[in-house]
Amino acid sequence: MTWRAALLGTTDRIRDLQTILAREGWAHGIRRSLREVVPPLFRRTDYVFVAADVNDVRIGSSGDFRGTVRTATSSDLPRFGNIATPSQMRQHATRFSRRQVCLIAIEGDRLAGYCWGTQHVDPILEGLPVTLAPGDILIAYLFVAEEFRKRGVAHRLLEALKQYGENRKLRRTVGTVDALNYASRALLEATGHREIGRGTYRRILWHRSFRMLEDGS
Ligand SMILES: CC(C)(COP(=O)(O)OP(=O)(O)OC[C@H]1O[C@@H](n2cnc3c(N)ncnc32)[C@H](O)[C@@H]1OP(=O)(O)O)[C@@H](O)C(=O)NCCC(=O)NCCS
Repeated sequence: MTWRAALLGTTDRIRDLQTILAREGWAHGIRRSLREVVPPLFRRTDYVFVAADVNDVRIGSSGDFRGTVRTATSSDLPRFGNIATPSQMRQHATRFSRRQVCLIAIEGDRLAGYCWGTQHVDPILEGLPVTLAPGDILIAYLFVAEEFRKRGVAHRLLEALKQYGENRKLRRTVGTVDALNYASRALLEATGHREIGRGTYRRILWHRSFRMLEDGS
């Protein structure tokens, strides 16, 4: 990583901290920042890779979310402002410029959640060097705002991604998930995704590395 990128990352983190403190107050803001915005500089994370045939993605009917789910365009970017930090906003803008597909869930005027999908992996943007086969689409970033969770929003977003994949005759949806993220793992398993491999990500200051533990295909 270049010094310029490292510096940009640091200023991003400071701006994220300011946004969270202003939005959520000091006590909650500092706790959240320590957890999310100031990640430990020495870190090891185990990742699980999962995949499902597009036709086999299963969507449960549970949940009382009655909002709209649709494909987003870059004109929807301001909607992300309510739930995204400045560095995440920059990332969303980059994803739009790379023409990734974005499904959004909206209730009233509020963004309840989103799901980014891509067939072309940029390891720096995704944080991991995922290898996709032709016909694969990576669930690049799935997120549901806290107040909308457990209402079926993620299921609806994955349903929209499945539809997107079926319309384009894609073969598989592929996901990467932190092995300790039990909510996501449960969600992906419930929607028909099966483990295809594991890897370990390491960060030492600004040096990052990733090693596949098992070869998935
Ligand atoms: C994971 C996440 C996307 C789930 O969104 P959601 O809209 O709440 O999920 P849904 O309501 O559509 O689906 C609920 C299902 O997901 C799983 N799930 C969701 N939250 C869970 C939790 N806290 N514990 C265990 N399972 C959970 C379960 O399978 C659940 O089904 P159940 O209600 O029958 O047990 C959401 O919690 C989130 O945005 N988390 C932070 C970001 C993240 O981890 N993204 C995923 C990266 S792959």
